[in-house]
Amino acid sequence: MKLIIRFAPVLLGLWGIPLFAQVDLEDIAAQGKALYEKNASCWVCHGKDGEGLIGPSLLSGPTPAEIFEQLKSNPQMAAIGQVLKPTNEDLLAISVYIRSLAGMTVEEKTLDGFRTGLVAAKAKQETDLIFPKTERDLAIEQYQAFETVLADWQRRSKEGPIGASYKSRIIAEFDPGKAKFKPRKNRTYFYENVGNSANLALLRDGAKNAASTQIVVGDAQRHKVIASYELPVNLRAAVHTTILSADGKYVYIVGSKPKSEPSNQMRALDAPATLIKADAITLQPVKQMTMGGRLHHGQIFRDSLLLLDTFSRDENGLDIMLLDPETDQIVGGVRDEDLGGSSYTAWTDDEYIYVLMEPTGYGSHRSTGMLGAINLYKGVLTTMKPFWVAKIDPDKWQVVQEYPYAGFRGDWIVIDAQKEFMYVTAAGTSNVNKIHLESGEIRWTSAAGISPYGASLTADELELWVANKGETTGHFGRTISVLAADSGRQLATVFSGYEVDHILLSPNGKEMWATSNGEGSIYVFDVATREKKAVIQMPQYGDPHGLVWVHYDAAGNARVVRDQGGFRGGVNPALGNALRY
Ligand code: HEC
Repeated sequence: MKLIIRFAPVLLGLWGIPLFAQVDLEDIAAQGKALYEKNASCWVCHGKDGEGLIGPSLLSGPTPAEIFEQLKSNPQMAAIGQVLKPTNEDLLAISVYIRSLAGMTVEEKTLDGFRTGLVAAKAKQETDLIFPKTERDLAIEQYQAFETVLADWQRRSKEGPIGASYKSRIIAEFDPGKAKFKPRKNRTYFYENVGNSANLALLRDGAKNAASTQIVVGDAQRHKVIASYELPVNLRAAVHTTILSADGKYVYIVGSKPKSEPSNQMRALDAPATLIKADAITLQPVKQMTMGGRLHHGQIFRDSLLLLDTFSRDENGLDIMLLDPETDQIVGGVRDEDLGGSSYTAWTDDEYIYVLMEPTGYGSHRSTGMLGAINLYKGVLTTMKPFWVAKIDPDKWQVVQEYPYAGFRGDWIVIDAQKEFMYVTAAGTSNVNKIHLESGEIRWTSAAGISPYGASLTADELELWVANKGETTGHFGRTISVLAADSGRQLATVFSGYEVDHILLSPNGKEMWATSNGEGSIYVFDVATREKKAVIQMPQYGDPHGLVWVHYDAAGNARVVRDQGGFRGGVNPALGNALRY
């Protein structure tokens, strides 16, 4: 350390008592260094030696008052200010440390001047900010800070086991038909359930939506669709995801209401629906069954069961459930009334189930978060009740932890390979939270682009790619934000397709696949260069939702290696076992 310390002669007050305690400047500088070099702190933007990176060089040696002013007024530094919450002595220490980097002299009397200057700067800010406050202003001030959410968090879910059951019923069986493609050994395929509601405003002139939903299969290596099947219109419902059984043999897709006639009512997400099981080679339905609700998202759980969440459910149905694809029976699940809020989507690290929870009261039960966020963006609402994540132990069906997070209307959860952190994207506030799973502590909260939906970590887990869909805003989002996973810092904005909602790292660890709902296509990006490699057009512009990769090994056996919730079947690029292609 280049710190030059020059102690001023000790000033003696009355009766010879020193006016200032002897301070150890080395200690102060060391404390400043620790603060300066903390995770996501000053060094990230100003450089390890204060030489300047995104932020300017600090080698002019800012005073604590100047640093305080920056933290209060500079939007790029607002986040670090909230994390560090520096005391006066912290600001002093940082200033002393920066001066040491610049080889500047620090004397004890300098410190004294610094302290006085800081007090003056703070006092000035207080007077600058005093305006008359209404009753309403005061009420808002009481709860607008996110800390107040954490301070008085009360458990929402019931204590103890809350598991419930539902008996699914087969209502139709079908002949699977003929093979639509012949899988080859050592090849990887992608499956995509597509809807029939790509945004016509974004498509070429004359484009028309298909009459029904489709199951699409393609070659993942060549980025090509190889076969597809359009469901009969009377089986159609609004598609939101793609699910396959772990053995790669069956595709699941949302189906129409039991015994429904063709109608234009399919978009009523509050109406119950069915689940259709289709053959993964013929792509045709084999069964239609009740599931007690309307499927929203789904993924493989512990390499065998399927974790399903719903948009709405029947009176006796479940909101979150596990289905056994061997028997097509639901083996257990939970209901919203026991979770203490409206559940949105469910995720898993194959140990626990993590459910995005929404406060009720902003719309009909299942639209509460969606409508709340829409009204927040319109300015109709000024704030909302907190959203949180419920962690469920599926062996006991018990909520073991609740994670309130900063922002509104979480859409997606990404859990890292070590199961240490989860990332939660929040549409209503266009931000992302990184949360420590064990402690619930929020590591960082960072802005993404407008109203993000899906997200995915890169294979080295250094970057989080976030799809800025424009969810809940009515905005035609068409960018992907790349954030540094350790700090939340913006690294890049990638130009992409319209309204990408799901984004997933491919099982070879090299590509980011982004499903553009708006355009009915999948954009494939090279992770290393962030360049677009391919755009895979879905048949008849079907809007793609979710993605599943199936690998056929050397013996010709299939298994799912990646779905919307994570990597499966012993493949995980973050753990060094990426598929090679
Ligand atoms: C996320 C990036 C980021 C972080 C973290 C950050 N800064 Fe900054 N800082 C900036 C940027 C950008 C500017 C320039 C703003 C401008 O020019 O309007 C700046 C400006 C400043 C300035 C004013 C410099 C001048 O010459 O005008 C000071 C002083 C400063 N930062 C100190 C700090 C300290 C101390 C920390 C750690 C507590 C810190 N910054 C953390 C981005 C950052």
